[in-house]
Amino acid sequence: MAEHHGKVIIITGGASGIGRETALQLSDQGATIVVADFNEEGAKQVAASIEAGGGTAAAYKVDVSKGDEIKALVDWTVDKFGTLSGIFNNAGIGLVKPFLEMDPESYHRVIDVDQHSVYYGMYYGAKKMVELNVPGTIVNTASIYGSVAAVGSFNYNAAKAAVVMMSKSGALELAEHGIRVVGVAPGYIDTPILGDNQEVKDALASQHMSGKLIQPEKVASVVTFLFSDAASAVNGSTVAVDDGFLS
Ligand code: NAI
Repeated sequence: MAEHHGKVIIITGGASGIGRETALQLSDQGATIVVADFNEEGAKQVAASIEAGGGTAAAYKVDVSKGDEIKALVDWTVDKFGTLSGIFNNAGIGLVKPFLEMDPESYHRVIDVDQHSVYYGMYYGAKKMVELNVPGTIVNTASIYGSVAAVGSFNYNAAKAAVVMMSKSGALELAEHGIRVVGVAPGYIDTPILGDNQEVKDALASQHMSGKLIQPEKVASVVTFLFSDAASAVNGSTVAVDDGFLS
């Protein structure tokens, strides 16, 4: 399948989990992928496995909480591959603490990595697409916790709720430039971000209709669809991939 042939897509957090699986699926469908991550070694491994399978990819080390680094990532991508068709603003962290221990550093760190990064990706990505006069798609990773409060997640709840609204607001203003902005809201996905405490993971899984954690490939397949022309009427909304959690 070559649905995404000719597209150049940046994926932040591409070294692991949801980002990694999305990189593999989009490249399978013909897209050139820039695997952008703080974890340079992991990004290189994903890019190498894409290239080994006959696709085109490059790894790029970035700290998404820094706007100048995202700007440089966007410029570098266009210098290297000639265009920019999409950006998946997906890198994120969790930092769970009771609210009365949610000191400014813990609050700001998650807001910087999970929320401000999305603004930087949207801003520098969309400006570049407009400058190049090309259509594009921006997908932002939110969370079920963008709609539902969770104990210990004040910082994460705030960041992800903002991401949901940023997708709507960005879509509203960018539509006239042929740029679509959509979000994805995963439930509990079986990736390193969940930690390795099996009891905790079982408790999270039990909140899904299936009683199981969701595999990252299942989020990746929805994101891959959202980047496609078949999803051209999906704009501004955030699609839940949550095995019924929010239902
Ligand atoms: P993951 O831990 O497997 O992947 C996250 C990636 O982001 C890692 O490769 C990490 O190196 C990278 N990263 C973290 N901070 C960074 C920074 N400052 N700069 C650049 N890269 C950075 O986790 P997962 O699950 O794939 O997470 C992807 C997104 O999905 C995140 O935004 C997360 O909040 C979101 N999400 C995950 C859920 C889950 O249950 N796993 C549920 C809902 C949302």
